[in-house]
Amino acid sequence: MTEVITHISEMQKITSKFKRQGKTIGFVPTMGALHDGHLTMMKQSIAEQDITIISVFVNPLQFGPNEDFDAYPRQIEQDVAMVKDIGVDYVFYPTTEEMYPGAIDVNVTVGRLASVLEGEKRPGHFDGVVTVVNKLFNIVQPDVAYFGKKDAQQLAIVEKMVDDFNHNILIRGVDIVREADGLAKSSRNVYLTDQERKEAPHLYQSLKLAERLYQNGERNSDTIIAEINKYLTHNTSGHIEEVAVYSYPELIEQQNISGNIFISLAVKFSQARLIDNVIIGDNKDD
Ligand code: PAF
Repeated sequence: MTEVITHISEMQKITSKFKRQGKTIGFVPTMGALHDGHLTMMKQSIAEQDITIISVFVNPLQFGPNEDFDAYPRQIEQDVAMVKDIGVDYVFYPTTEEMYPGAIDVNVTVGRLASVLEGEKRPGHFDGVVTVVNKLFNIVQPDVAYFGKKDAQQLAIVEKMVDDFNHNILIRGVDIVREADGLAKSSRNVYLTDQERKEAPHLYQSLKLAERLYQNGERNSDTIIAEINKYLTHNTSGHIEEVAVYSYPELIEQQNISGNIFISLAVKFSQARLIDNVIIGDNKDD
């Protein structure tokens, strides 16, 4: 039985009861419009924890003024039906007023880790993410929280926030779930036109190309970035916003590759900005 909880105090009461009983709580925070990528994280939590709680909340704090907050897909009935099928215990589904009853006065701010890549393109985005994730952690009180590796920068920042704020929560990164043709699953894929949907798997193909170059001994970032750019220019009509090679999880730009690296892409199609990445290197599973 899946229960939908809309009030913070009720959610806290439920999780406190489970904690007193010694039950472990797994948590998957989402903004809804669920797809297989989310369901994979939830199934992992269900397999590993006694109780699984997910949240569905489109967080206004993490959207910039020209971003898609109003247009972001909202489909709570469908989402609840999907998670019922797999056995999620609770859906925390608060209103914006419940989460932010007045003007927010105390924000969590991310430093250097948010000054590169997505953070550089979307000022304030990661401050909004960690502010809401902090609140959700205090409401849900999970033992383990699951985050997708598709948003690898978000994962690195949440891990750092958990360390810096001493949250007693284990963060588990879950591998990217892809369509059969390689396109990373995303709530924003619905915005692609038919033609763009045909082109979009080339993002992953360009990352595979980079991985092959790395496996064949290429260690120069500029060469890898140039090859990805060439491939994407030939195979997609999207505007290439970013191709970058950074260390992971430190997020320091790399010229000559060593250790774990994170190759990330952002491509803007007419109505959808897609991101994808691979983490490669000597100890990528750390
Ligand atoms: O990854 C997301 O969907 C969001 O950034 C999150 C973690 C649910 C916070 O709003």
